[in-house]
Amino acid sequence: MEEKIITTENAQPERKKKILSCIQPSGIPTLGNYLGALKNWTKLSSDFDGAFAVADLHAITVRQDPKKLRQQSNEVFALLLAIGLDPEKSIIFLQSQVPAHSQLAWILNCYTQFGEMSRMTQFKDKSLSHADNINVGLFSYPVLMAADILLYQADLVPVGADQKQHLEIARDIANRFNGIYGKTFTIPDPYIGKSGARVMSLQDPTKKMSKSDPNPKSYISVFDTPEQIMKKIKSAVTDSEGGVYYGEGKEGVNNLMSIYSCCTGLTNEQIEAEFQGKGYGDFKVAVAEAVIEELRPVREKFDYYMKDTAELKNLQAKGAETANRIADRTLTKVMKKVGFVIP
Ligand code: TYM
Repeated sequence: MEEKIITTENAQPERKKKILSCIQPSGIPTLGNYLGALKNWTKLSSDFDGAFAVADLHAITVRQDPKKLRQQSNEVFALLLAIGLDPEKSIIFLQSQVPAHSQLAWILNCYTQFGEMSRMTQFKDKSLSHADNINVGLFSYPVLMAADILLYQADLVPVGADQKQHLEIARDIANRFNGIYGKTFTIPDPYIGKSGARVMSLQDPTKKMSKSDPNPKSYISVFDTPEQIMKKIKSAVTDSEGGVYYGEGKEGVNNLMSIYSCCTGLTNEQIEAEFQGKGYGDFKVAVAEAVIEELRPVREKFDYYMKDTAELKNLQAKGAETANRIADRTLTKVMKKVGFVIP
């Protein structure tokens, strides 16, 4: 067989894989958001072409105060910079500034079955917690999420474990569309970290830590002060048994161990060895100190980015411009395949 000689003229650099992920600006992000998702975004962003969005279109599936939504969207955008995402290397943008997300979501709605959406556990949960406003957007939310992912032809989507079902439906929709019209979308894989994929409530460790929990003692916000973090972790629910080890019926301790592991890089065995013969008091102080140190640089950089609102706007415009260019390319391809007249 003839050997192919690669020269500078014919070299095809291997395509860098793409990642995409988003976060809703529906409140101040928690330690769960940070350890389950944001920390991995930064880690992966050096090896992948990354696109990261503030999912403000998703946020209005639950009633929002307009002033607060705008403020939180700016804050979460600044947070994405503060966690170390580099706007020169990754695309960082506000979802509502890229109209193709809404446009593709409409098209994909017509390729998604009512029955599929009815099975989404997050829809069922949110219908219970927002019984007075079970709107159609809440129902078709996973289709918008599929549009977010598929527009950028993402190979990998780093998320917490709670988004796994939405990722599966995005894959189903993409496969269905490709099956009808030929290869249009890359089929995305979820990236769910080994530890931190499901950070639990500090007050009820059988429930996910959530920024919408009415009890602020149940979650740590990424902007909590060191004093608040120490206080919340000291009052975290554990058990009456007293030993620091990972086990069944020890959800509170398991949760603190996994938080500690994410912040220090220690394995469960190493943590158990460190706290052998010590009580929960010592353990909780160590966990709190690790969390404080983990979040300290994020908080400091956040304050720095929030001070310069002109630069923030500038970066938002730059991110939206690049995102629009990429997203429009996929949208046009889809519109042609479906049979729309392209101007
Ligand atoms: P959102 O805004 O609820 O959360 C953002 C990310 O944080 C993760 N997460 C957690 N991880 C571990 N433990 C927890 N307690 C915890 N709470 C939240 C979430 O899994 C998520 O990765 N629908 C998405 C936003 C979205 C999206 C997308 C994500 C919109 N479009 C496209 C990926 C791709 C959401 O509501 O995440």
